[in-house]
Amino acid sequence: MPTNFSTLNVINHPLIKHKLATLRDKKTDTLGFRSRLNEIASLMVYEITRDLPTRIITVETPLEITECEVINKAITLVPILRAGLGMVEGILQLMPNARVGHIGLYRDEDTLEPVEYYKKFPADMPDSKIIVIDPMLATGGSAAAALNFIKQCGGRDISFVCLVAAPMGVKRLIADHPDIPIYTAAFDRELNKFAYILPGLGDAGDRIYGTE
Ligand code: PRP
Ligand code: URA
Repeated sequence: MPTNFSTLNVINHPLIKHKLATLRDKKTDTLGFRSRLNEIASLMVYEITRDLPTRIITVETPLEITECEVINKAITLVPILRAGLGMVEGILQLMPNARVGHIGLYRDEDTLEPVEYYKKFPADMPDSKIIVIDPMLATGGSAAAALNFIKQCGGRDISFVCLVAAPMGVKRLIADHPDIPIYTAAFDRELNKFAYILPGLGDAGDRIYGTE
């Protein structure tokens, strides 16, 4: 990986790699795809939340009173519709109190530019830790637009989480949003002429929802 991809974090773990192999396999059916995707999302949470602030509370154990640390920041998940929804349940399993905002974007097949069709954020999102979710970072157009919307709504502490990233998308995000850490399970080779990631896993939304 080029060393100047400063905000890119590739989460290397055998369990994630194993499950990603299933997602890449074109023979994996919709149910298998959805399940493995959510499992990987759960596994990624550990790294994504590593820097969350904590505060001290007092807890009474069966034996004595002690000090413990608990998370001290609200968390907002923002999946980019549709495919981002495919990772939300897996993340919520570990962070059930997180709120969920939504951004609806699709990539115009001719221009490859993102088109917004829906947006709804929790009122307290600006003060929360915001985790923007989309399995695929291809040209980076959708992610860059989503991050612009969130910043316009006051979001400051933001991370972007995907499953597979392509060099072009990472470069675009680093250029447009150098303040935002990117987490991915895989850093793939390139895009094809239709801006699909190679080797990739195909159209994530279609594979999650069986709309191929
Ligand atoms: C896919 C994917 C990203 C986008 C990535 O969504 O989920 O949102 O493409 O491509 P980009 O980095 O070049 O913008 P798509 O537009 O296919 O919509 P969908 O999630 O509704 O299927
Ligand atoms: N969107 C997808 O779903 N897959 C790709 O490979 C690129 C964009």
